[in-house]
Order: sequence, then structure tokens, then C-alpha cells
Amino acid sequence: MPDLIPSQQPSKRLFVQTHGCQMNVYDSSRMVELLEPLGYQLTEEASQADLLLLNSCHIREKASEKLFSELGRWRDLRKDRINQGHGRALIAVAGCVAQAEGQEILRRAPFVDIVVGPQSYPRLAAMVAKAEAGQRALLDTEFPAEPKFDSLPALRSDPTALNPTGNVKNVSAFLAIQEGCDRFCSFCVVPFTRGAEYSRPVADIVREAKQLVAAGARDITLLGQNVNGWHGDDGNARPSSLGRLARILAEIPNLKRIRYMTSHPSDVDMDLIIAHGELPQLMPFLHLPVQSGSDSILAAMNRSHSVADFMRSVDLLRQHRPDMAFSSDFIVGFPGESDADFKATLELVRAVRFAQAYSFKYSPRPGTLAASLPNPVEAHVQDERLQELQALIQELQDGFNDGMVGDTVPVLFEKEGRHSNQIVGKTPWLQPVVVEVADDPDSWIGLERNVTLESRMVYSFKGQMAKATTPEIDLQMVES
Ligand code: SAH
Ligand code: SF4
Ligand code: F3S
Repeated sequence: MPDLIPSQQPSKRLFVQTHGCQMNVYDSSRMVELLEPLGYQLTEEASQADLLLLNSCHIREKASEKLFSELGRWRDLRKDRINQGHGRALIAVAGCVAQAEGQEILRRAPFVDIVVGPQSYPRLAAMVAKAEAGQRALLDTEFPAEPKFDSLPALRSDPTALNPTGNVKNVSAFLAIQEGCDRFCSFCVVPFTRGAEYSRPVADIVREAKQLVAAGARDITLLGQNVNGWHGDDGNARPSSLGRLARILAEIPNLKRIRYMTSHPSDVDMDLIIAHGELPQLMPFLHLPVQSGSDSILAAMNRSHSVADFMRSVDLLRQHRPDMAFSSDFIVGFPGESDADFKATLELVRAVRFAQAYSFKYSPRPGTLAASLPNPVEAHVQDERLQELQALIQELQDGFNDGMVGDTVPVLFEKEGRHSNQIVGKTPWLQPVVVEVADDPDSWIGLERNVTLESRMVYSFKGQMAKATTPEIDLQMVES
């Protein structure tokens, strides 16, 4: 391809790589917006980028190390680019490793231009401008007094820019309503990387939700490190709660589905449970990390709930919303975890019949309480336990999915399928469903229809529009 002559040169190009959780995905999309006024537009080719931005995750050692291996590759890319006579690309690191180990990044990867913690994104554009002017090793990891959401520009309603890693039409979108965590689970770095809990006020959340819906979103996931601990200002004297927020958001026309993550079991209150029973928009699929099925390990993890407390919440949620399914997170091989403790975890998994779960080997993290606990579990035992737990989780997940073949469920269509006559949507339980349609698949995007699930592939279903539905009726829910 011939080199572009300067007058035709497009604006500067930005490559973003996002590690870690949904909050990082949301933050990345906000950073893309912040950098647009400087002339940056997203590219999918790292080698083409004038600015390479890595939004990092510190949760486990492997996640942090992934940052450094990627940075090594970017350094080589930059050399190639300079050798080919192009300008020098800037390299920026954001996210939780930036917050926790900013100085260490500059020491181990001195070629990095910018290190910016999650609370400092409002100042990112100014830092990039300085780096463009030749300043190096810029570091900002302050926790400012002003909450970061207040100083971020209002979200635009251009659907193509909202979610750089998400689907094209953004039928599903993320909305951060809370950030930070005061719970200090003994294994976890999040309270150190994201700071103290902050809940955004209702008015801001509603405004952003309406903007997202106007841009095509129909399924919004409310995000927070401890999202059900949300207690934002709702303009009334009474204490607010996530259940109340869900009721307010459920009134937004065309917002068909509301989800939230990640929740802490101790913050599941009656208001939220009742909201699940009353609001069809509140999806019957809840990610509720429990970490372990042993009370003594939960105590050592500083989780502030017992196995019985967790089971009580699960039972109550199922009473109020019988089609409720659960997903969770587990840590195996926490210091002092005995065979009996691990067996108790397997029992809990069987008792709840999780529809899905993530499981991790315990990874000691700098600065956390658990990092100095005695009795580490041997690596091979950790490996064996992880395998056993994952096999059980897979069995339950397969059972959950197999059990739905033949059912008719509401499917929200999100994107065109691999073949030209296919449309792909999601069930309330986030299972992808592929349906063949006679007309333009594009015209189905954003609509919700009843679909009969005919067969299961590995993680998705093949389905057919249910006979009883007429395309004019836009379903809000199906009776359970
Ligand atoms: N905000 C989320 C936490 C994100 S971390 C929440 O409150 O659940 C996601 C998961 O990573 C946690 O639920 C936990 O299972 C796992 N995790 C966190 N720290 C870990 C560590 N030090 N070692 C292994 N897994 C860890
Ligand atoms: Fe980490 Fe615990 Fe807070 Fe979740 S609740 S972010 S695991 S400290
Ligand atoms: Fe990772 Fe930070 Fe999220 S440590 S999991 S990116 S809050």
C-alpha cells in the first residue's frame, strides 16, 4: 500500500488493549472518548497506532505479568515503526497495575511514556498532550478529592464509540454506578487499586442510561466493584439501595434488561430480592461470588458472611424469582485450605447448582493481608483442586444448558450471525442463540422475541422464532 500523503493522513490512531474486569472495559471506552478531542481514533492494528494504551489488571500475578510481556512486544513494534521512518508511537499504561505499581512499571519498562491510575483518567488527555510535546515518564496515580465521574465528559450518544471491545451496535452496554471497595477481603488488591467506595448519584446514572438507550442499548449491566453496596444520592433523605435504583431504571422506555455486577453476598438485601420478583427487566441471572464453601476459609478471607448466609440469599432469590440462575467466583488453595475445606466448596457448588462459575488458584498479592498468612497450599494440590472444581462446574453448566433444550425463552437480538441469514441474540441467562431469518438480519437487532431452543452447540443454542409471536409485539418478558 502506498504511503499516505500528509494532507490525506487520517487523524492520529489509538490502539487500546483491555485486561481484567468489565469496569476496565467501561473505563477503556471512556478513555477513547477523552482522547477524541486530541484527534485520536481507534485502530485495530497495534502496528498502525500513534498511541498504544494498555488498561491493566492486577488481580492475580499472571494478570500483572501479562502487562509486562505485552509492553515488551510494544517496545519492539515501536522500534520497527521508527526503522520504517514513521513517527514514534506513545505508550501509556492505565488501570490497576498502573495504580498499584506505577513506579515499578517505569523501572521495569522505562520506555513507557505515561502511567495513569483509574482515578486519574480525567487528566489523561492533558498527559497525552504533554507526552506528544516530548515529556517522558509521566505518572499520575493520585486519588483526587473530586470523584472521577464528575470530571469525565458527558457520555456521547454515538453508538460506535461507546464500547470499543463490544458488539457493533451496542445492544448490550456497561454503565459504572459505583467504584472502589471498602470490604478488604484478605486476598484482594481492589481496595488498594480502586480506592474507597463511591456511589454515583441517581440523576447521573439515569441520564447516562437514557443516553445509552438512545444510542441503541437494550440490555444494560450496572457495574461496580461492590455494586450491590451502591447507596448513591437519590435526592431523598431515605437511604438509597440498588433495588430502588433498579425500580427507577426500569421506568426508562425501551430498556428491556437490567443486570448488575459484581455483587457481594453480604450486601444482598430484602429490597433487592423483592425487586427481582417484581421487575421483569431485572434479569434472573446473578453473578454472586462466594469464593469458598468453608466457613473457616471464608473467615480467613474476611468475607463477612457464612455459607449459611449465602444459601439463605440464594434460596430467597429463588423464592421470589423461580427462574433465577447463579454464577460465582471461587478461589482454591487459599492458605490453610484443607481437604475438608475443599470438599465443603464442592458441596456448596452442588447445593446451589451454579449455571456457570469462574475459579482461580489463590495468588498472593503484594500489600494484602493473606500474602503473609502461613500454611500455603502446595502448587500440585492447588492444580488438582482447580481441576476437580472446574470439572464439576462444567458438568453443572452442561446440565443447565441441556435442560433448556426445547424451552421457549425471550431472546434479545444483538448482531448478525456468521451466515448471511442468521441473527444472534442472548437469553436472559446470557446464552447466545443463533436463529435463521427470512428477512434482513440487521432489522432484528435490538428486538426481543420468544425463541424455541432446538439444539445446543458447546456454549450456544440453535433456535427458531416461537410460533405464537407476531413480530409487532415487542416482548418485555415471558411468564415464568
Ligand atoms: N469486584 C469483584 C472482584 C473482582 S476480582 C468482586 O467483588 O467480586 C474477581 C475474582 O477474582 C474474585 O471474585 C476472586 O474470586 C478472584 N480473585 C481476587 N483476588 C484473587 C487472588 N489474590 N488470587 C486468586 N483469585 C483472586
Ligand atoms: Fe475484592 Fe472483596 Fe472488594 Fe470484591 S468485595 S473487590 S473480592 S475486596
Ligand atoms: Fe483487575 Fe482492577 Fe478489575 S485488578 S479485576 S482490573 S478492578
